[in-house]
Amino acid sequence: MYKQLLAMGLFALTVFGSVNAQNNEKRVEIDQKVDELLSKMTLEEKIGQLNQYSSSWEMTGPAPSGSNEQQMLQEIKSGMVGSMLNVTGAEATMNAQKLAVENSRLGIPMIFGYDVVHGYKTMFPIPLATASSWDPASAELSAHLAAVETAASGIHWTFAPMIDISRDARWGRVMEGAGEDPFLGAAMAVAQVRGYQGTDLNSENTIAACAKHFAAYGFAEAGREYNTVEISEYTLQNMVLPPFKAAVNAGVASLMNSFNIIGGVPSTSNNYLLRELLKGAWGFEGFVVSDWNSIGEIHEHGAAPDLKEAAYLALKAGADLDMAAKAYLGYLKELVEEGRLDVKLVDDAVRRVLRIKYELGLFDDPYRYSKLDEDGLVLNDEHLKAAREIAKKSIVLLKNEGQLLPLKKQGQTIAVIGDLADDKDTPLGSWRAQAITGSAVSLLEGMENAVTDKGSVRFEQGPVYVSNTPSFTQHLEFNETDPSGIDDAVKLAKETDVVVLALGENCFQSGEGRSQKDITLKGFQQELLEAVCAVNKNVVVVLMNGRPLAINWMAEHVPSIVEAWHLGSEAGNAIADVLFGDYNPAGKLPVSFPRSVGQVPIYYNHFSTGRSEKTENVFWSHYTDESNDPLFPFGYGLSYTTFEYSELTLSESEITADQKLKVSVVVKNTGKVNGEEVVQLYVRDLYGSIARPVKELKGFEKIFLKAGESKMVEFELEASDLAFYGADKTWKAEAGDFHLWVGTNSQSGLKGEFKLK
Ligand code: NOJ
Repeated sequence: MYKQLLAMGLFALTVFGSVNAQNNEKRVEIDQKVDELLSKMTLEEKIGQLNQYSSSWEMTGPAPSGSNEQQMLQEIKSGMVGSMLNVTGAEATMNAQKLAVENSRLGIPMIFGYDVVHGYKTMFPIPLATASSWDPASAELSAHLAAVETAASGIHWTFAPMIDISRDARWGRVMEGAGEDPFLGAAMAVAQVRGYQGTDLNSENTIAACAKHFAAYGFAEAGREYNTVEISEYTLQNMVLPPFKAAVNAGVASLMNSFNIIGGVPSTSNNYLLRELLKGAWGFEGFVVSDWNSIGEIHEHGAAPDLKEAAYLALKAGADLDMAAKAYLGYLKELVEEGRLDVKLVDDAVRRVLRIKYELGLFDDPYRYSKLDEDGLVLNDEHLKAAREIAKKSIVLLKNEGQLLPLKKQGQTIAVIGDLADDKDTPLGSWRAQAITGSAVSLLEGMENAVTDKGSVRFEQGPVYVSNTPSFTQHLEFNETDPSGIDDAVKLAKETDVVVLALGENCFQSGEGRSQKDITLKGFQQELLEAVCAVNKNVVVVLMNGRPLAINWMAEHVPSIVEAWHLGSEAGNAIADVLFGDYNPAGKLPVSFPRSVGQVPIYYNHFSTGRSEKTENVFWSHYTDESNDPLFPFGYGLSYTTFEYSELTLSESEITADQKLKVSVVVKNTGKVNGEEVVQLYVRDLYGSIARPVKELKGFEKIFLKAGESKMVEFELEASDLAFYGADKTWKAEAGDFHLWVGTNSQSGLKGEFKLK
């Protein structure tokens, strides 16, 4: 069994368990305090606790109608605002908090939330990149350091981790999650919750986390942002929900609703998801925040005639805190007074919000976070060093023909080409919180820092990529008219031994609101690539992107391809570490790379069709104009060394429901340099009461092997690891035959078989 996840589970059980045990008394005490406070609150004050405003409207969505600053200040002072988002910095948070604490009747502190998704000021790799490290410890560390910076700035709560499973590269928010697999996704979810929250929310360097978006947001039809979701119960339960369940088990403080509908029901008013499953079966005790105006959008979806009904449906279903819709403030009182809404439901929501405020220590000192010395704690050397380490681990080597990589630090002339190569902003990624614009180490800078012979690196920008000023809220305009720059780039490419060509996406090309119908290279990138390849055979492409790209021509014609995603503040240094071999890349793809958008959705853990075998005629499941396989499969990634797998051993050929199966394999580093390998375990349940996927990841372990060294890697599997949610709406493992593979990616591996009795 995947040791880290198990360890994490155990950690969660023991640490959070023992914390819970130790803190049982504290918990009882908090509950008493919450009840006491609740008994003093008027209905209006209770509703105020369920109302969240943004410090500046239009930040991440349209402003609610009738919003005005003066009125907002007045409402904060009268205790009508329980939470704010987008207030940042120790001073601003302190001032805002004072308004509530010093003026409202009960002085209840507000909880400040913010989108700290991959860093606050020090930017870490985007979550899709961190997932490529297959190293939960890296995900935990980046969340922890982000929490330190966030807390120092007076913010108590991040709207992260985003743990949506996604299978569609057209969707811009692929960059924000851990990719297509629920097992890897759950591991990354747990790691991030631990990183943000630590073992004690009361500590001054931890913040509350928020698992989002609940649920199935990543399954937006046709990859179009905010679109309808049609998903089977099977896929919802087995693919989408496991990371959320894992986050809840790890003690996540809050969840956020998703914008989408599922089967016509908006997630924000989905009684089954929120009340029955999350707060019922899973026993979640934190609170649920709506997404931005997602209560208002219940009406837009056509599932409520007006905002009042939307408020009713959302609160009743279990959305506790209203982000930006003003629906609860506007209508909950009326709904209770009319006898439609049981005040007990309001009390339950308020209790959940207050409990987290107590756990954060806000009642002991509402300003405790804002008092810290922001400057020493934010963007310091230690954080930047960690950002570089995590970034290195997030890089995936996709191709390296003829061992063109690693490059030499001297005695080799290198042309660095591409608009993205000297871009100091794009590596910061899309959700950049308080990152300083243009503060990342560019690829060019990283390479210049690395070489011994400073004259060996020369730069040409090539054509401009984006012709307007990129921003978080506005559309990008790609340069599709002016190819100038290609000639100079070609001239330089002719004169140097090697070309490092930066291609991919601008930071604001992926992210929220950034769906694309096409995932090939934009602007003049393909022309530039072909022109450079025509004059120099030694081309290394460094990809910077937030989603899988269809790069067939490149994969065929370019000897070396490095997937560098958007790697954060230290991107250029980290990429240079890999390019020059100071670090041997070990990342693996957390998503399949399609050959073309026509294959989308594409994912490794699909079902078998009734006609999967190729036949002479056309009557089998395939495309007539494209292969079924991805360009690069899930779990794929190369190294500067090679690994050989042997001696796959299964402790038993049959196990009973209470027996463990031990699986071991010997992995040898057969190359000349030290390296890390992510050893992956996949399983196929051959026949079930319903069809089962052709492969499912059930374990992984990242190991380090010196050149020539061998290691035995062991996994343990038991019946619960083989359980799935079936047609009878329960989770269970079914007796039968299983295949198992241990290998280097989802398409290869040594194969074994066993039976579950
Ligand atoms: C909308 C996004 O969907 C969500 O992820 C984010 O947390 C909120 N806006 C707040 O910015």
